[in-house]
Amino acid sequence: HNYVAILAGGIGSRFWPKSRTPFPKQFLDILNTGKTLIQSTFDRYAAFIPKENIFIITVAEYVDIVKKQLPEADIKNILAEPSRKNTAPCIAYISFKLMQNDPEASLIVAPSDHLVLDNAEFERVAIQALGFAAHMRAFVTLGIKPTYPNTGYGYIQHETLAVADNIFKVKTFTEKPNTELAKAFIASGDFLWNAGIFIWKVKQVLHAFEEYQPEMYELFAAELPHYNTPEEQAALERIYPLCTNISIDYAIMERANNVYVIPSSFGWSDLGTWNSAYDNLEKDYLGNAVAGENVMIIDATKCMVSATNHKLLVLQGLDDFIVVDTKDVLLICKKDKEQQIKDYVAEVRRNI
Ligand code: GDD
Ligand code: MG
Repeated sequence: HNYVAILAGGIGSRFWPKSRTPFPKQFLDILNTGKTLIQSTFDRYAAFIPKENIFIITVAEYVDIVKKQLPEADIKNILAEPSRKNTAPCIAYISFKLMQNDPEASLIVAPSDHLVLDNAEFERVAIQALGFAAHMRAFVTLGIKPTYPNTGYGYIQHETLAVADNIFKVKTFTEKPNTELAKAFIASGDFLWNAGIFIWKVKQVLHAFEEYQPEMYELFAAELPHYNTPEEQAALERIYPLCTNISIDYAIMERANNVYVIPSSFGWSDLGTWNSAYDNLEKDYLGNAVAGENVMIIDATKCMVSATNHKLLVLQGLDDFIVVDTKDVLLICKKDKEQQIKDYVAEVRRNI
């Protein structure tokens, strides 16, 4: 009864210019490991979930990339949404689809673009979460010890007493707090980051959609006879234009009263920005991190360099810079200004 839904429809704009809308970061090998992020994600789950139970949900424009990068995936499990509506509709869709064939289904919702260093520990935690959710009306989240006030994450505060081995009832779930609030959360020492991985029984999450997102629930429920039939895509074409654009975090996690957390340490990183890539790469003796080949560094310190491999990149005298070379764009940006990269992307889109 255990299934995985790998969500792979996002656009990863903070990794520009390497991550681009036609080819976003989940399909890139950001750290030069030999596997793209979605390939590592698939392998991580295939180690303990049968491949026929692993679904990949993306948007139509990425289906061919997914098929090419995951030749082992069951082709009928590669699903395409008609448009990007964030993660809540995507999860409603897979939940209705699974519910029809297996009312006792348990689901792991998995982002496609994260780094996990300790796969064995991850598997242990995921199996524990599946076991807990199978018998409880529980939405299990995985909590990561935070290191700084990142405003792009969800923040979880839990009860002090565990309800089971290292599993805690969640008191508050706050998605993407503003800077002030994030700072207060970090200073209190009482909060964990939400890793963005959720474990629950499909029938429970459908109850939550019915309660907290009744309009979305009705849209998907109205097409019940069409899931797992040749009419499925046509049904989605009817639903999506009417569906709210909202993430599961705002739609359900902030509101539900049966959320639990397992504080975890399996070497998680969102790999959201170039600085997080820098943190996860090996450095030379002057603190430079290089992803890619054909790079020559002279008298530079603490730079994050991503090369194209096809071109020689020679870098001299820069300290604390991000240098990202691609076929058609070269970015040179101070490391502490990386939050502005998304503004440059917007500016470029306006002008080109
Ligand atoms: N199929 C599909 N359709 N996938 C999507 C869509 C969509 O419309 N939108 C996003 N995704 C995928 C992304 O590719 C990614 O793998 C995953 O869903 C999560 O979406 P993000 O857009 O990356 O979410 P986030 O990073 O802002 O926030 C989430 O993750 C954080 C940890 O990385 C939240 O769960 C936060 O609470 C959490 O801290
Ligand atoms: Mg993300």
